Amino acid sequence: MSSEETKHDQQFYDRFLIILGALLGVTVFLFVLSRWIGVENMNRSMQNDPAYQAAVGARILPVAKVAIEGEDYMFDGPEVVVYEGPEILEVIMTGPQVYNSVCAACHGTGLAGAPMTGDTAAWSARVSNGTEMMNNNAVNGFQGSAGFMPAKGGDPRLSDDEVIAAVQYMVDQL
Ligand code: HEC
Repeated sequence: MSSEETKHDQQFYDRFLIILGALLGVTVFLFVLSRWIGVENMNRSMQNDPAYQAAVGARILPVAKVAIEGEDYMFDGPEVVVYEGPEILEVIMTGPQVYNSVCAACHGTGLAGAPMTGDTAAWSARVSNGTEMMNNNAVNGFQGSAGFMPAKGGDPRLSDDEVIAAVQYMVDQL
């Protein structure tokens, strides 16, 4: 074999390898591209799948729905849970709370002739009449010589005990 021929062969092999490499590159590129397109399409067709949509729908259902008595309604959510815990207890206010929210308007300022809280002179005669009399007058209201004391200070939502606690608090301030 002449050296000219050897060189020619060498050139052929070099080119052959370059082309082979390039084709391999194209193959890998096409493979990646087709996978990418495939995944895109798969996601899209999955989102249109009724079974998939139903599963998502079930996952994002509201936790509960309000049913109004006497009104028709469609309920397609999970089972209705009926609250069977203890009844909500009435909030009971303490003496100072009742005093500050209701009584102070008059007894804190002397409004309408009300004996001011802490005014020993204005209260001494009342205190000597006894706690029962004062409680009774505060709960039921009364017209005295100084003015008119409305029943429960004008707030019928107060229980007798709440009013009595407020009277106790006022007496404690003397
Ligand atoms: C609208 C004003 C007003 C409010 C509000 C009010 N009072 Fe009076 N209260 C009076 C007046 C006026 C008197 C004095 C009446 C009199 O002796 O002529 C009085 C008197 C009293 C007396 C004295 C009773 C007695 O036997 O002499 C007590 C106790 C009393 N109030 C408690 C309360 C309590 C407790 C509250 C809040 C729950 C309250 N008051 C809210 C106006 C008010």
